[in-house]
Amino acid sequence: MKRLEGRPAIVTGAGSGIGRASAIRLASEGARVLLVGRTEATLAETRDIITAAGDVAELFVADAADETQMRAAVDRCIALYGGLKIFFANAGNTDSVKPFLEQTVEAWEGMYRDNVITAFIACKLAGGHMIENGGGSIILNSSTGSLRARGGTEAYGAAKAAVNNLTQTAACAFAGRNTRVNAILPGLTETGLTKPMFDWARDKGKEGRMGKLTPMQRPGYVADMAGVVAFLASDDSAYVDGQLLPVDGGISCTHPAGRFVY
Ligand SMILES: NC(=O)c1ccc[n+]([C@@H]2O[C@H](COP(=O)([O-])OP(=O)(O)OC[C@H]3O[C@@H](n4cnc5c(N)ncnc54)[C@H](O)[C@@H]3O)[C@@H](O)[C@H]2O)c1
Repeated sequence: MKRLEGRPAIVTGAGSGIGRASAIRLASEGARVLLVGRTEATLAETRDIITAAGDVAELFVADAADETQMRAAVDRCIALYGGLKIFFANAGNTDSVKPFLEQTVEAWEGMYRDNVITAFIACKLAGGHMIENGGGSIILNSSTGSLRARGGTEAYGAAKAAVNNLTQTAACAFAGRNTRVNAILPGLTETGLTKPMFDWARDKGKEGRMGKLTPMQRPGYVADMAGVVAFLASDDSAYVDGQLLPVDGGISCTHPAGRFVY
């Protein structure tokens, strides 16, 4: 019996990066996964990887920041798989670096929409279903950039900090009804989101320095994130609720003191 055998799951932003890797991992552990995102072609690629391995997935095109579209996604999951037990609210975005005094309200609103509103809608819709139907696990995707300055753009960091508080708030809102809410806080991980940084380092011959300030001395891989998502989705984390879990090679435990000399 697999750890997530038969459990209905939704993953947003499942057409790429951490979302794709996590959907594949959840399905490999027995979950039946509805892949949600804005681009049908990339979702179909993820679905084809999962079904080629003999696991179960379907896709649903929706904007994770649109409540009506996401309600339709949840309804589709319930119709397909008979419920909803796992929701990985992974969809998120970053913006481009700009001097603080040149930043716009519109850019900040965009960051809040893609990172906070998506997570709020996930908690509202998945939580609403789960508390009435025996419970479940909601996992939000925050960032180590939420913990202090300069882990991303200012608006991105502030938006992810809001996701952290939402994790705690929602866990309390669902208290006593077997519905857990936790967040992963990824460190620097190569995906479409961070490709420009990795490309820049490669161009300068400095790829080996990516992630070197972490105690693990390497950047994150999407599989590192997917493993923790599967843990939080499973009963192995049954007593973990309202927690912000850095998955960052240890960078959040250090001060920026330079090279490791031990
Ligand atoms: N890569 C990193 O270093 C890193 C670090 C910390 C946190 N994260 C977080 O991980 C999550 C996944 O990002 P990734 O690194 O895999 O990058 P990615 O660009 O590969 O994936 C993000 C996905 O979210 C989708 N998305 C964004 N807004 C959406 C919306 N409104 N509706 C539906 N889909 C939407 C995108 O289309 C994309 O498929 C994000 O929330 C990101 O903030 C990433």
